[in-house]
Parts: sequence; structure tokens; C-alpha cells
Amino acid sequence: MGARILEGKQVADGVKRGLRERIAVLEARGVVPGLAVIMVGDDPASASYVNMKGKACQELGLRSRALRMPVDLPEDELLKLIDGLNHDPEINGILVQMPVPKHIDVGKVIAAIDPDKDVDAFHPINVGKMLIGSGDGFLPATPHGIQVLLAAYGIDVAGKHVVIIGRSNIVGKPLAAILMQKGKGADATVTVCHSRTRDLRAITTQADVLVCAVGKAGFVTADMVREGAVVVDVGSNRIEDPAAPRGYRFVGDVDFEAVREKASAITPVPKGVGPMTIAMLMYNTVLAAERALERQGGPKV
Ligand code: GUN
Repeated sequence: MGARILEGKQVADGVKRGLRERIAVLEARGVVPGLAVIMVGDDPASASYVNMKGKACQELGLRSRALRMPVDLPEDELLKLIDGLNHDPEINGILVQMPVPKHIDVGKVIAAIDPDKDVDAFHPINVGKMLIGSGDGFLPATPHGIQVLLAAYGIDVAGKHVVIIGRSNIVGKPLAAILMQKGKGADATVTVCHSRTRDLRAITTQADVLVCAVGKAGFVTADMVREGAVVVDVGSNRIEDPAAPRGYRFVGDVDFEAVREKASAITPVPKGVGPMTIAMLMYNTVLAAERALERQGGPKV
């Protein structure tokens, strides 16, 4: 049986269509949501993500500011830059592309971002709000995108066993927090596996929904997947391929061709989780602008 392909690109386009209406309402009130993306260094993968974020802003008519800083940017300079953006009324969302160079304390950088502009939802205040499920913070783009993608295909995770491979602060940990909440699109039983997990296969084969976010091409093989499971591939790994137009291409963490024969549904790479991440970042930027307007005493959008 061939798995249903969960077309993240199409669902992301739908999310962006929904945002256009909200952006038009803001524009009528004289507000153009603005996103600032800071990149320290010249990592090619990061540069490509930053470009995609800028393009998405352009497509939606959002203000976008890309701040490309040298790899040796001192930490205090970065903190000053963030402070300036915190006080800039044209900017509603601030994002520092990860990873940052080793001489920079990532915790300090995240803590310096105004939580109301923290569209990545990495600030401890937003992480706490997400864990509590209070709904007045932001949700991080990739895990939120996965939740929206599953819901768009009518895949209800309530009562299901979701197994997540990878415990990063960007994907694994927040996805567990989001899917274990009480309520719509959640109520799952979640297991998080990682590099120290014993007998990984014994756990992954119990998954109704298996999510992999480890950044290793071909990590999830067909024997790790239960027949009929839903498989979400968060990986984006560049591999050399002389037959590809640029000499390389991107593959996920899942052995797609083998696993699609066993799964009931699977996300492709590219055009799966990636476009959802970008769409949910735009969603957070629009939400931040709406909230900023509300705080200024404007009517609730
Ligand atoms: N690096 C990989 N994913 C992300 C993300 O979602 N946000 C930021 N800021 N950096 C990343």
C-alpha cells in the first residue's frame, strides 16, 4: 500500500492565504507587520533558510529586514542590535537564525529578545506559556506547523501514541509539549526518544505517529515503522548527487521510498514540513503585529 503524501507546500499555501486577509485588515489600520532576521556568520544552510523567510515576507507584503552579521560579531554587539529591534515600532518579530557561532551564548541572546516579538517562541517566557498551554504566547514554527499539517489532513492525534525521535529545543521538546496538551489537535500520548534511548526500534514500532528530527539522512528505516503509521520527516539533509542540477539535493531523515510502502501517510522532503515552518513563522509575525496594535489601544483585530 502506498502512503498518502502529506503535501506541506499546499497546506502552507492555505495558511498564507488565510494570513492575507488579516494582513489587509492591519494595513487598513496603517500597520505593515515587520520581521527582522539576524544571521551571524555565513553558514550556507542558514543563509538559504534566511532567504526563504525573506521571500515569504515579500510574497505576503510584510516588511522584512535581513541583518547579515560577520561570524566574529561580538556578543555584546548582537545584544545591542536586538535591543534596538526590541524598541523599533516597525518590527513586530525578531528572529536570530540558529545555530550562532560558539563564542555567543545562545541563552543570553534568546533572553534578550522581547517576548512579545519572539516569533520563534524560544524565549523562556514563551516556552513556559507553551508548556502551560496558556495560549497567549507564541508557538514555535516547526512543531506548530506539524500540528496544523496533521489537522489539515484530518489526522487526529487524540489518544494516539506519538513517538518523536530527537529532543531539540527547536523541534522535539516543544512538539511533545504541544501534542500532549488538552484540546483540539492534541491530547496525544507522547514518547520522546533520543541518542541515549535503548532499543529505539522497540519504541518506534509502537508509534501511531512517528516524527523524526535528528538531521541524519536515512535514519528511519522501514523496519522501525509500524504498518499503517503516519510518518513526519523533519529532516533536511544535503546530499551529493551528480545527477541533480546543482550536484546536490535535499533528503529527509526517513528512507522515504521504503517507508512509504508501510506508512499510511508520510511527509515528503522537500515540500513537507519545511514550507509549514515558514508559513507558521509568518503566522506568528502577523499575530505579533495584531497584538502590538491591541496593546496600543486599538480594537481587537
Ligand atoms: N535553525 C533551524 N530551525 C530554526 C528555527 O526555527 N528558528 C531559528 N531561529 N533558527 C533555526
